[in-house]
Amino acid sequence: MSAPKEIARCPLAELRSGEGVRVPSEAGPVAVFLVDGEVLAVQDTCTHEDASLADGFLEGHVIECPLHGGQFDLRSGAAVCLPAQHPLRRFGTRSDSEFVYVTA
Ligand code: FES
Repeated sequence: MSAPKEIARCPLAELRSGEGVRVPSEAGPVAVFLVDGEVLAVQDTCTHEDASLADGFLEGHVIECPLHGGQFDLRSGAAVCLPAQHPLRRFGTRSDSEFVYVTA
């Protein structure tokens, strides 16, 4: 099995607890969140329509879409509140002292 490939990076200094950061990647935009000291990354575009989840509202591990209020669990990517029905793609992350690296 090959090692996960780095597809995007985000300066650690840009991450604020409770806020998302949108970063471009070869897999499309990725939203990176800092939740209770844990870095979580998912596809940025909502699976319902075209909205950026990095601009959404974070409560615990749940991100609420800013457009229609659909909700997703960032730990699994699962849609947990309508109108969102389809899960988000999840990405791996690793960090060093400067960057968070998003991997796929
Ligand atoms: S675009 Fe996200 S819930 Fe509609």
